[in-house]
Amino acid sequence: MALPPEFLDELRARTPLASVVGRRVKLARSGRNWKGCCPFHGEKTPSFYVYDDHYHCFGCGAHGDAVTFVMQSQGAGFVEAVEQLAAEAGLDVPKPTPAAAEAARRRLDLQDVLEAAAGVFQRKLFLPEGARALDYLRGRGLSEATIRRFSLGWSGEGRGALAAELSRQDISPDMLVRAGLMTEPSDDRGSREFFFNRVMFPIRDRRGRAISFGGRIMGDGQPKYLNGPETDLFSKRRTLFGLDFAREAARGGAVVVAVEGYMDVIALHQAGFAGAVAPLGTALTEEQLEELWRLSPAPVLCFDGDKAGARAAARAAELALPLLTPERSLRLAALPSGEDPDTLARRGGAPAFQGVLDAARPLSEALFDLVRESTGEATPEQRAALRGRLEETAGRIRDKALAGEYRRMLLDRFYERRAAARPRRGAPAVARPILLNRPVPSPLLAEAERCRTLLAILLRHPNLLHDVEEALSRIDLPAPLLRLRDAILHWSASAPALDSDALITHLTSVGLAADAAQALSVVPYPLPACARPGAQPAEAEAGWWHFFGLLDPGGLEEEVATAAREFASRPDEAAHRRLTALCTARDALRRGEQGQDADL
Ligand code: UTP
Ligand code: MN
Repeated sequence: MALPPEFLDELRARTPLASVVGRRVKLARSGRNWKGCCPFHGEKTPSFYVYDDHYHCFGCGAHGDAVTFVMQSQGAGFVEAVEQLAAEAGLDVPKPTPAAAEAARRRLDLQDVLEAAAGVFQRKLFLPEGARALDYLRGRGLSEATIRRFSLGWSGEGRGALAAELSRQDISPDMLVRAGLMTEPSDDRGSREFFFNRVMFPIRDRRGRAISFGGRIMGDGQPKYLNGPETDLFSKRRTLFGLDFAREAARGGAVVVAVEGYMDVIALHQAGFAGAVAPLGTALTEEQLEELWRLSPAPVLCFDGDKAGARAAARAAELALPLLTPERSLRLAALPSGEDPDTLARRGGAPAFQGVLDAARPLSEALFDLVRESTGEATPEQRAALRGRLEETAGRIRDKALAGEYRRMLLDRFYERRAAARPRRGAPAVARPILLNRPVPSPLLAEAERCRTLLAILLRHPNLLHDVEEALSRIDLPAPLLRLRDAILHWSASAPALDSDALITHLTSVGLAADAAQALSVVPYPLPACARPGAQPAEAEAGWWHFFGLLDPGGLEEEVATAAREFASRPDEAAHRRLTALCTARDALRRGEQGQDADL
């Protein structure tokens, strides 16, 4: 019987496998999964494992999903098993109609068309005509193995080559239109290839079957990416790029993380994060969240570290709230600003992205800040609005017990902050990117953070090194930062040019990639603006002296005095710039700005 795949997906999603199996087998937790004695062969020690969406017996090899479990354990037929599970899940089994059977057959045909096209694109990539595309992919840091694993390809230049090539396999232009590979013919022209002059990214369903393509232009043209149109096989809102690999990886314990783009998924995969997936250029949908939850109880959603990223995180939280249960939550991670996972993993390697994952915050923790961002809390009116929004937010969680817990936690946080805010006066609260908001560090931690910030600024702006070297070697750094400082100073003595990429490459080559990533990490606190790659040189310089002055006020005064003398004896531009940066930093400190909150 041909049942629509969406129905079977829905049925599997609504049927917790462990509870179906649990009726027949006594199950015990085994990490994230369950295990018990196999019901299909006699055994005394458990070798039967139940995962999110399938079971496997390491004793007898029994293997399947909820439907096959009912079939195997009750001797039921497919239809009977589906009907039983559907009744339990409150779903109606669609009637098998001739039209449904025809649709199923057509989907199978389309499947073949897409696989054939994927084969053509992939082959072309390694022919002379694909050389430029292959160079492009290599130039973006992809290894041959990665290019093959993702079956990347080259579209060709259009002009009917795809149709001609596939006609030899009895694939008609009409089928290519239905597969989303050619455009409908119009009055003035016949049907044409949908993708041409593009690097091709096959989009696969959760079982790894090609269902559409994304195509990237090489260089700067528009649109940068083209995604195949909706077809009988391809529904954009239900699909996640990389899901087939992520499913496999999640079973092996990989972190499931949703990022923004094709290249992010591929670069992360290459860096060892095989649990990465991406929606196809749109905000995450409910269907995609459901897919993520089938792989992990708390997948990570990764957003840009800027305001837009915070808004996207807030939207994802809105979408997720009604769907949360004790077993289904989210974590939110923020990228350093100006980076996407692809650039981050290329620049800082796996440790850099690991840092982002490690800093992911559970939704329950991030939510307060997400809501606060939308109302503010400076005035009584804003605080009243905030309180109302917090209650409303918790109320959107359908699971009643969980909603109660969220409500309590959000309000506790609200009253805690109010109590903490009361006795303080002076410095106004400064808004920070909300995902990154963290409690104010303790004095000792503040000191360590200042040291880390000094090194972070230099990692991003090593051109400052010659100016600050002496001061840098004077500071008492905590042990973990010492070897990083020494390596930086050592490098600056002989580096031909003081360039950030070159410095990171050097540190990586001497085994300090992780130390550098830690210095640049958003953990435990986000770095100030002056430590970001996009900061203006003057901003970075003033920021450096500011944090130096916080650690060593006397040292800063000395530097100012020296710079003033130097400027007096040789008033050139460099001396002026240095003196200005130092005075800016000193004046800010005299005004009492503390730095860890100031948006330097
Ligand atoms: P981005 O513009 O952030 O690009 O789009 P990217 O992923 O960093 O791409 P590279 O690194 O420049 O190659 C994120 C995602 O949005 C969709 C694609 O799915 C892309 O991966 N997108 C983007 C489109 O669908 N069309 C576009 O024109 C641009
Ligand atoms: Mn990118």
